[in-house]
Amino acid sequence: MKDLLRQRTSLKEEIEILLNNQVKMEAEASSKYLAMASWCDRNGFKNSAAYFMKQSEEERAHMLKIFNYIMTVGGTAVSPEIAPVRQEFASFRSVFEAALQSEISVTQSINRIVTQSRREEDYGTENFIQWFVNEQVEEEDNARRAIELFDVIGEEGTGLYFIDKAILKISSEA
Ligand code: FEO
Repeated sequence: MKDLLRQRTSLKEEIEILLNNQVKMEAEASSKYLAMASWCDRNGFKNSAAYFMKQSEEERAHMLKIFNYIMTVGGTAVSPEIAPVRQEFASFRSVFEAALQSEISVTQSINRIVTQSRREEDYGTENFIQWFVNEQVEEEDNARRAIELFDVIGEEGTGLYFIDKAILKISSEA
């Protein structure tokens, strides 16, 4: 039955697996950002909490975009199981460092899909995934800019307050 279904789509099994893994990764990213929003909120960084809530929504939108693509090309989209995510962070700065690390991992995973699409001559998927290549450039840039605020403004005295304030600007441009 599975083989019969596969004959009705040009989507290769290997690509389908990578795309479903990406669905899971985006869902996990969405969940990670929710945990970051909660940490920021309970530690008094309201703008950063709002920023991470927005990021979480974006990641869910990414997940749905890939999920929908898998269905469109005749694959089997799998509703993802999410592993537990980290809820506690050592400092305000470490939240943003974790966010950047997460985005770098996503970029690497997206790049693997590009590579494999080319190898399998799946140009439809390569074309589809290019949107994510561009999106990751932007998301990594936002994450780096947030971390730079800690160096530019400094963490002493009222520094953290002003860093949280400056996150608003990144959030409005994101
Ligand atoms: Fe959709 Fe920022 O990874």
